Amino acid sequence: MKTTKKIVIDPITRIEGHLRAEVEVDEHGVVQEAYVSGQLFRGIEIILKDRDPRDAGLLAGRICGVCTNSHFRAAVSSVEDAYSLELPKNAEIIRDLMAMALFIQDHVVHFYHLHALDFVDVVSALEADPKATSKEAHKYSSAPYRNSNEHYEATIAKLQNFVKAGKLGPFSNGYWGHSEYKLSPEQNLIIISHYLEALKFQTNISKAVAIFGGKTPHPQSIVVGGVTSVADMLNPQRLNDYLFIIKEAKEFVDRAYLPDMKLLSTAYRDEIKAGVGRANGNFLSVGGYDFEGDQRLFCSGVIYGHDFTKVEPFNEHKITEEIDRAWYKDVEGEHKIEYTDLNEDGSLKTDKKEDKYSWIKAPRYDGNTMETGPLARVLVSYIKDNSLIKSFVDEFLESTSLELIDLSTTVGRNAARAIETSYICEYIFKLVSRLTQNIKYYDVDTWVKFDFDKLESEAKGRAFFEVPRGVLSHFVKIKDKKIENFSVIAPTTWNATPKNFDGKRGAYEEALIGLKIEDTSKPLEVLKVIHSFDPCLACAVHVLDTKGKELSHYKIKAF
Ligand code: NI
Repeated sequence: MKTTKKIVIDPITRIEGHLRAEVEVDEHGVVQEAYVSGQLFRGIEIILKDRDPRDAGLLAGRICGVCTNSHFRAAVSSVEDAYSLELPKNAEIIRDLMAMALFIQDHVVHFYHLHALDFVDVVSALEADPKATSKEAHKYSSAPYRNSNEHYEATIAKLQNFVKAGKLGPFSNGYWGHSEYKLSPEQNLIIISHYLEALKFQTNISKAVAIFGGKTPHPQSIVVGGVTSVADMLNPQRLNDYLFIIKEAKEFVDRAYLPDMKLLSTAYRDEIKAGVGRANGNFLSVGGYDFEGDQRLFCSGVIYGHDFTKVEPFNEHKITEEIDRAWYKDVEGEHKIEYTDLNEDGSLKTDKKEDKYSWIKAPRYDGNTMETGPLARVLVSYIKDNSLIKSFVDEFLESTSLELIDLSTTVGRNAARAIETSYICEYIFKLVSRLTQNIKYYDVDTWVKFDFDKLESEAKGRAFFEVPRGVLSHFVKIKDKKIENFSVIAPTTWNATPKNFDGKRGAYEEALIGLKIEDTSKPLEVLKVIHSFDPCLACAVHVLDTKGKELSHYKIKAF
């Protein structure tokens, strides 16, 4: 079909970092081809070179201001793997407790503050009837969060103040009134009231990370060999503080976040059933978070092409990272920067199949592009009969009359994220009990003693973790007790991958194909699809120099 128009969105807002999307639409406004480009060059790995491996965590944590704890832990774990250090159970539990709190924080902030306004028309909420709103909320929860007339009246008053002052603040620049907004004024009001509540939530849940992390963002307490939060672990008040915050968070998740996802799944049912936002159906999960016995919160595995009848085992050696269409070139096995200018009109060069168009490299699993994140984790764990997660998925699907395949959509991706959050909130308490049991039986170890001078001078290690946005892997090579080479593949690197010589689209690009755009001057549909993946571009762009030599300088032309 003839392409008639190119739509460029740059930057895509309400994400972390700088992302650009170019979509080519036909005369009916249907997307025929998509190019997603990471517009931000990073290079933290270069800073890590020649450093003491024991400092890897603190430096790698600076890769991102959002995912700090994830990189902090993964970097330290990769060094521990290099030296084959076995950690005490308590150290892993404390690291998991920090990670779990981050999952909850990340998912709630993502939906309400980065994504909800793609579904929720703030201006329409002003017309809502508070009484009818409270009745509506009962359709999705038996005990809706702060569901009183007074609360909804106060929310409307707050919104009106924004409007009267002529300052919509965080709500300015929306595509209000767009035909893609499907919610009634009352439904809009429910989610907007939770948007405001989630601002408080965000602060509180961060405290939970800080209890064991010393601070957040950029926690301090993870060190090679264990954790330093010994006094916190042994102080019952600190454990209680943590539990109290999680209990409050669980209330919000179960009575606001998850019900809101049921509301969306009902209101956007046609879109879900039409498969809007579906990628190619290749899912990757590395699993993790040991729980009880051999149970883990998430299973590992690989699904191809939405074939839910089988999950193949994950094999880390099948991961490659390609650069054919990213701004790098391969010189004797090293990835050097090769920035090519844009077209004269400022658009990406994408006409030829070798044209380069992104700072993001192209990770492949056995040659395939993969989707990673909450949806991948939920699908892999559910299909592998993870007894912990099963009832959470079944309950959601039953109450919304949806099927498993429906989760592989824009709205479904959000539903999977909320299901996962609710699931984590449930099991986090049992993880704390494991810790207190250990302490009760005088197992209070939080670190393993090692003599750095006696460790091998050359070593290689890696760490794979499921983090809020998906699969994160860190690789470290140590020589003469210094970091010779450090490399990261982050969740967004997987999902926002550019094409390769093979022409295979990544999850973002694939999910955009076939999308019908009502008004090409207000491409809300494109934003919605991309936001559903929870992009983090600061994390996504990385330079890998396989031989540890200095990387070339780069120049970027302003336009
Ligand atoms: Ni990040």
